[in-house]
Amino acid sequence: MVDTQTQYRKIKTEVDKAVIDVMESSAFINGKPVKDLAANLSAYLGVKHTIPCANGTDALQIAMMALGLQPGDEVITPSFTYVATTEVIALLRLTPVFVEVDANTFCMDPVSLEKAITSKTKAIVPVHLYGHAAPMDQIMQIAERYKLAVIEDNAQAIGAVYTSADGTKKKTGSIAHISATSFYPSKNLGAFGDGGALFTNDDELAGKMTMIANHGQTKRYYHDVVGCNSRLDTMQAAILDIKLKHLDDYITARRAAADFYDKAFAAENRLETPYRADWSHHVFHQYTLKLTDKENTAATRNGLQEFLASHGIPSMIYYPVPGHKQKMFAQFNSAAAELPVTDRLTDQVISLPIHTELDQEQQQFIAGKVLEFFAQS
Ligand SMILES: Cc1ncc(COP(=O)(O)O)c(C=O)c1O
Repeated sequence: MVDTQTQYRKIKTEVDKAVIDVMESSAFINGKPVKDLAANLSAYLGVKHTIPCANGTDALQIAMMALGLQPGDEVITPSFTYVATTEVIALLRLTPVFVEVDANTFCMDPVSLEKAITSKTKAIVPVHLYGHAAPMDQIMQIAERYKLAVIEDNAQAIGAVYTSADGTKKKTGSIAHISATSFYPSKNLGAFGDGGALFTNDDELAGKMTMIANHGQTKRYYHDVVGCNSRLDTMQAAILDIKLKHLDDYITARRAAADFYDKAFAAENRLETPYRADWSHHVFHQYTLKLTDKENTAATRNGLQEFLASHGIPSMIYYPVPGHKQKMFAQFNSAAAELPVTDRLTDQVISLPIHTELDQEQQQFIAGKVLEFFAQS
């Protein structure tokens, strides 16, 4: 699905030097590259504070801890997302409340969000899924009206731009009270291992999150709050700082690949190509098609996956089981909720390879095989 090897080879000289520099300095933990990366990420996203941490899941957990959420508080999140978004809610003994996504954008549906708010609701976690920005104007307006905190899950959309109704442009991850991202290797800004970060413009929250990520201490061995150990390795920070300089080019390459697929599939009415809302500058972490068959959608999709695999083409279903259907969440009332849009999407979606190194020949082959499958079925 991704080609991180070829991507590495293009920046090998720079990356190898940075890694050797870290080894020679022996500053493996909290070395200068960690601070440099934080400063550069703050400038890139247009936020005041960046707090690097060990991974995107930790980032979400630390954000919720810093907000002081208490067991039983409800946190509203889309059911159609990666489990990390929802898992940390349950881990902190908070109550996940699953809501619908919009069938076009795959992102949180504000109408479903507002309906789910109760007196116990304390926070909202929208997800910029596949690289498409969630409708942040509406989500922030609802949050303000009900005095709720918002944490953007920006793991799949770093670099995406959100345009508000008044024309103001902001990077996703810079809009809500806190945002969390992941540097998992296949992400648009991927490390050579695990990594993550938190972002905020709020000084107090930044202080709390920095503390929580470091065993609840600001002064060594004086632990004021319960925290955890969540650090970004210096080596990963050094690599990410190099890759950050290329991020906009990586996004351009992903968007060009998406444009190619869009054109190739335009005439095939059994496929729907990814929607791009006016407000979202999509960064195509995934290129996700929807099958439009009314019946046997999942069976057609299985057939397509098998056909592609027989020609050496990988494809993925992100995600086959939504949160409200996961056994992990069976204990929560809202897990039994009716979410027909989400259920339908889980049968319809299929993601094709998309990354910075796809060439036209590869894309022609992939698109050709997809079309061949539909022509013969
Ligand atoms: C939407 C979403 N949220 C959170 C995460 C968690 O990130 P990580 O794997 O770095 O813990 C991921 C990535 O895997 C993700 O895709």
